[in-house]
Amino acid sequence: MSEKKGFAGKVAFVTGAANGIGRAAALAFAREGASVVVADVSEQDNRETVRLVEGLGGRALAVRCDVTRAEDVKAALAKTVEAFGRLDFAFNNAGIEPKNPAPTADYDEEEWNRIIDVDLRGVFLCMKYEIPLILKQGGGAIVNTSSGAGVIGIKNSPAYTAAKHGVIGLTRAAALDYAAQNIRVNAVCPGYIDTPMMGRFTGGTPEGRAKVIAEEPVGRMGTPEEIAAAVIFLCSDAAAFMVGHAMVIDGGQTIQ
Ligand SMILES: NC(=O)c1ccc[n+]([C@@H]2O[C@H](COP(=O)([O-])OP(=O)(O)OC[C@H]3O[C@@H](n4cnc5c(N)ncnc54)[C@H](O)[C@@H]3O)[C@@H](O)[C@H]2O)c1
Repeated sequence: MSEKKGFAGKVAFVTGAANGIGRAAALAFAREGASVVVADVSEQDNRETVRLVEGLGGRALAVRCDVTRAEDVKAALAKTVEAFGRLDFAFNNAGIEPKNPAPTADYDEEEWNRIIDVDLRGVFLCMKYEIPLILKQGGGAIVNTSSGAGVIGIKNSPAYTAAKHGVIGLTRAAALDYAAQNIRVNAVCPGYIDTPMMGRFTGGTPEGRAKVIAEEPVGRMGTPEEIAAAVIFLCSDAAAFMVGHAMVIDGGQTIQ
């Protein structure tokens, strides 16, 4: 742990932390000195994230948590306080991608429900139970994961587009609700990031990857670490005046 320890003594709760962007963020919080709660439905991958955090000399706790289940979220946060005594930061990042692209009139209703449930309602449930804990020690910061699909429409993807736009609206509403109580709520909007989700999205083939990369002005996908860096910034005092912001980190994909 050679880097700065701006978050020493602080506690971060990260959902979707078993893989991809969430795992990179868990490691980034640990590098800053925070204790990390690794909350995800994937218990095996949770354990691997914890192992990686501990490899950095950090402290982490793995908690199985389905963000669509209020009982899971409450229990995971209770374990957070039991293990580390407080909650300062939350990165509400767990999400799923669409599986059956289709225009709106043909879109599968069950897939709609599932995506809205995980990608939007899951963020609401997490904030609902995180905020009272963060208020207990006088404030902190929350970052929610939206997407490029939160700021532009995506063809054949009505549910994901709506959920990710919804995350930005929810972020702004919650930001206003708690700004005066010293909780800052912001969002990140990643472009194409090289994670297991992206592997499923591209089919993991060179052609699939090339198609995605062709949409990126910078000529490459982003890394999970590039999103994690933004999350750390938004949680830090350097972002003390940033409230309800949706930070796009996408290599220029959505400005074309
Ligand atoms: N990878 C990208 O290009 C990209 C782009 C924009 C936005 N995002 C968003 O970033 C977030 C993370 O994506 P990623 O690429 O790291 O995905 P990933 O699939 O690699 O990791 C997501 C993690 O979320 C967990 N998860 C899924 N459903 C859950 C639930 N109900 N409760 C708890 N955990 C659950 C999974 O087990 C997994 O570990 C998602 O919200 C995604 O929509 C990703």
